[in-house]
Order: sequence, then C-alpha cells, then structure tokens
Amino acid sequence: MKQIKIFDTTLRDGEQSPGCSMNLPEKLKMAEQLERLKVDIIEAGFPTASKGDFEAVRAIAETVKNCTVAGLARASFKDIDDAYDAVKVAAHPRIHLFIATSPVHMKYKLNMSPQEVLQKTIETVAYAKRYCDDIEFSAEDASRSNVEFLIKVFQAAVDNGATVLNIPDTVGYGTPGEMFQLVKTIKENLTGIENVDLSVHCHNDLGMAVANTLAAVQAGATQVEGAMNGIGERAGNVALEEVIMAIKTRKDFYDCYCNVDTKQIYRTSKLLSSIIGVNVTPSKAIVGVNAFAHEAGIHQHGVLSEKSTYEIMSPQDIGLPENKMVLGKHSGKHALEQRLKDLGFQMTQEELVEVFEKFKALADKKKTITDDDLIALVGMDLNDMPDGYECVRFVVNSGSTIPATSTVRLKHSGEEIEEAAMGDGPIDATYKAINKIIKMDIELADYSIRSISDGHDALGEVIVKIKYKEGIYTGRGVSTDIIESSIKAYLNGINKVQILIKQEQ
Ligand code: KIV
Ligand code: ZN
Repeated sequence: MKQIKIFDTTLRDGEQSPGCSMNLPEKLKMAEQLERLKVDIIEAGFPTASKGDFEAVRAIAETVKNCTVAGLARASFKDIDDAYDAVKVAAHPRIHLFIATSPVHMKYKLNMSPQEVLQKTIETVAYAKRYCDDIEFSAEDASRSNVEFLIKVFQAAVDNGATVLNIPDTVGYGTPGEMFQLVKTIKENLTGIENVDLSVHCHNDLGMAVANTLAAVQAGATQVEGAMNGIGERAGNVALEEVIMAIKTRKDFYDCYCNVDTKQIYRTSKLLSSIIGVNVTPSKAIVGVNAFAHEAGIHQHGVLSEKSTYEIMSPQDIGLPENKMVLGKHSGKHALEQRLKDLGFQMTQEELVEVFEKFKALADKKKTITDDDLIALVGMDLNDMPDGYECVRFVVNSGSTIPATSTVRLKHSGEEIEEAAMGDGPIDATYKAINKIIKMDIELADYSIRSISDGHDALGEVIVKIKYKEGIYTGRGVSTDIIESSIKAYLNGINKVQILIKQEQ
C-alpha cells in the first residue's frame, strides 16, 4: 500500500487568515501537538514576512525532532536566505519555494512573462538546493494554469533539484475530475517523477477541497497539504482531519495509508480552537460536537444493537474515549492522570501537579468534571502568562433598576491597582474598569460566551477578540463564573498584546 505524506500548514496558510493569528508560545504548543499527531511535515511559517514569523519558524525548527519543518519562500534569493536561516537548525529542514504560473497571476500580480517565470524557477530552485536537500516547489494557482506550461515549469524545478512538486488549487476553483486529470497528466509527462513526491494543496472556496484532494490521491499524489479544522485564506484550506480519516476509513477504496496517530485528532482540533478562539461548527465532519452523536430514536436503537449500523468510524479512533469515568472532588491524581492519558494528553509530573491543583479548585465548585471540562482546564495553561496582568478580585453590581458598576483590582509586576467604572451591563463596566488600569489603546472587537458542559454549574468559556493597531488578538477565559471568565479572557488578550509591545521595544 502506498503512503500518503501529510503536510500540515496550520501554522502558515492557516495562521495567515484573519482572526487566526498566534503568538510564539502558541505556535510552539501547536507544533508540539502536530508532532504528537505524527504529521510528516509542519510548515512553520513564512520567515521573510516579519521578525515574529522568522523567530517562530526558528523556534519550531529547534523544538520539533520527528517531523520535517518547512519554511515558505517566494522565488527570491532574499526569501530563500531567510527561509533557510530559520529552518536550518531543524532535524529535517525543508525550503518551500513558490511562484505563480497561471496567466492571470503572471500578468497582474507578478508582471512577468511565462519565460521569465520559467527562468526564475530555474534560478531559485538551484539557489535553494545549494542550501538544503529537501526542496518543495509550488506552482501557485496551478489549477488555472496552462498544463503544457505547468509541466515545463515543474520539469525545470525537478531538473534543478526539487524533491517535491506541489499543485495548489489556490482559489478553490478545481473540480474533483479536473484535479484527477491534472495529477495524472503531470505524472505521465514528467521525466524523473518517480524520484519526487507529487503534492496537492486545495482551498475550499466551492466546498470541494476534500473531494479534490482525495481525487488527487486516487490519481497518484503522494503528499497532501491542509490545515487542522480547515482554517486558512477565505473559505480555508482542506481540513486535514477529514482527509486523514477518509484515507483511514476508506482504505479499501483509496488503497493507501498515512502515518498519523488519529487518536490525537480531537485533541489537536481542540487545542487549535482554544488558541485561535474559533470553535468548529457542531456538524463539522470528524471534530464537530455532533460528529458522533446519534439523536434519532431509530439511529440510537441501531447503534445500541450494532455500532456499524450508523457509525463508519469509532469515536476512539480520533481520541474520544468511550468509557466515561466521572471525575469529582474525591478523585485522586492517578485517576486524573489516567483520564488525561485517555484523552491523549502526555504530561510531565510537574505539569500534572499544576493541572491537579486547578482540577481540585474546579471540583470544589463543580460536582462532576467532564472530558470537555478537563480539556478546557488543560487549555487554560495557555492563559497563564508570566508577568502579565492578573485579577486579584472584583465586585460587580448590576440589575434592571441600577446602572452596572464594577470594581476590579489587578496585579502587574508586583504592584496592585484598583479602579471602578460604570457601564452598559456588568461586563462593559468591568472592561471599562480594566481599561482605566491598563491605559492601552485597545478596542474590543468581538465577545462570545458558551457553556462547555451541561448543568447549572457548567464551565463558561469566554472568547474575546481585541484590536490593537492593525492586529486582532484572541483572549480566552474559563470559569464557573461568567464575569470571572470574561475578565480572564480580556486579560489573556491584553497580555498577548503586552508580549508584542515588549517584542517591538
Ligand atoms: O494556496 C497557495 O497557492 C499557497 C502556496 C503558497 C502553496 O498557499
Ligand atoms: Zn494556500
């Protein structure tokens, strides 16, 4: 059976879409999780884009040992220098080089003739090859390119040392039949194709990214690119978890496999959601909350007597454990450790001690602790920012006959400051009080709240989007008290802005 390599671009193509930006510690945490998921390649970023991008790619290259780490570069010597500089410390570095080949991109974006694009390909692939053995070459907007020209450019890339050829459906325009034909034609007409990986990179503008990717696999592609939860430009990249589970579930049809540890899928998806503050839609395939729920009586009856009546995959395959052992205030550290292991969390003893403390504090407020509570609890680690603003206490007064007022005391660099404010409701008043303390030019761009589990003592998760200069920063807070989760989320976002300000100084 043929192996399909999984190339994850959550941290590059995914991260560059609006509202999905991540800071360095978040990118590192995500990269470590992608390594546990056992993807083959992690595209860590676009080093030339900014100093922050460069640092993040370098930190990921230093940390990740078992996956190839790729840095993106346009077909320019400076981009290639930066990309190599950032990935060279990796155990398995890759430079990912791209140039557009479609008539519309060449004319209006690059302002180059096809001959010039061909020449640039030759020069830059050869230049990158002097640095690094593993060179991926992408023909941007390949699906809208002239096929003969595309083959010419790909041939030039292979002849000059490219080891992977990537066919992006950059604007999600292709159809499954076309993608199949394109891959087949390239395979049939390229000299030396047996020595390189043929890859596809599908965007989801017409909702066909998964179908297009799988059609390419059927035609002989050996690498697929995508992002977790399908994040990415516009309608997103192909959702990697959907492609991975399609290959696993229908290996009878696709006759191939990938090396991913699918038991890490759920956790990876949740981690990403908690970092970027974007939850997947409930009916989303594989990782939506309803993906394995059976509501209709007939379905429930069928599943109870024989799972395969309505289940084509088992929830455990993606890391959703079956036997729900209820945890509560009498549960010990071992039970917690076992549960976390079942959920796919691998922790050091120090981390476990920290989570156990949070678990005990939560168990004092909440009778039973569900898997989703635990995932949220572990995810709260991301909120702990050393040296950031921390809430010491708050008092809120609100009602239908009085204006809302809030008094908040924050701690920062060892100093405590208290302020009070009035507002349109308790959260507005609280945020105004916080604004008086922090004195930063920020704007609340979005606020959302949801209950993590059921019951009157459920955890409330607040996600805020904070605008600072040109950037949007996500903050997340979890508590059984929604004012407290609102404060935590706001401070989490503010602390991220603070990190950025420090980096800029
Ligand atoms: O969509 C695209 O064409 C890309 C390339 C840079 C691979 O993301
Ligand atoms: Zn893309």
